[in-house]
Amino acid sequence: MIELLTARTAELDASALGEARALLFEVFGADLTEADWEHALGGVHALLREDGVLIGHAAVVPRVFRHDGRQLRTGYVEGVAVRADRQGRGHGSVLMGSIAGLVQGAYELGALSSSDAAVEFYRNRGWQQWRGPLAAMTPHGEERPTPDEEGGVFVLPATAPLDLTGLLTCDWRSGDLW
Ligand SMILES: CC(C)(COP(=O)(O)OP(=O)(O)OC[C@H]1O[C@@H](n2cnc3c(N)ncnc32)[C@H](O)[C@@H]1OP(=O)(O)O)[C@@H](O)C(=O)NCCC(=O)NCCS
Repeated sequence: MIELLTARTAELDASALGEARALLFEVFGADLTEADWEHALGGVHALLREDGVLIGHAAVVPRVFRHDGRQLRTGYVEGVAVRADRQGRGHGSVLMGSIAGLVQGAYELGALSSSDAAVEFYRNRGWQQWRGPLAAMTPHGEERPTPDEEGGVFVLPATAPLDLTGLLTCDWRSGDLW
């Protein structure tokens, strides 16, 4: 039996969080860092279980982005993964459907940084590639360009008016900024 559950990080006990962490390290392997895992904490998790065992995970965490002179309450998507032997069966689509509902219900904008392999996956689920320049706001209040990320950031419009060719600036954090 397949079950989809959403829960805030604070509602998950150590065992459930450990299971999510283990799934992400299993799926992403050496590409995942502890900072990446921590980036998936603090918001809401979508968890997909098959007969009680976790086979899929995605999270949306709150961030504040800046675009066109406005601060945007942004739901940033992290840790999207389906166990390798369960991929290609629609589970990722179910997770992203749940995440889209969370973004539309609580944020002005959804955003994520896609792996090369998942670009079409997100595109086919309504996520739009950001075509303009990207930057990050340093703790000292300077806008630092992040050109290496350009092309890999996707947004899900919610309530905020967006110009996809304009500048999008993320808030600062340790590890990968996007
Ligand atoms: C990307 C991922 C979450 C998709 O989950 P999934 O359960 O396989 O997705 P679905 O079965 O719902 O398939 C959705 C689409 O992805 C395609 N797809 C299937 N396996 C895929 C894979 N390994 N990588 C990319 N896309 C894949 C399907 O063909 C389908 O195509 P469509 O968009 O034309 O419908 C999953 O493949 C995965 O965990 N990949 C490795 C981790 C990763 O790259 N995560 C994204 C980080 S940004």
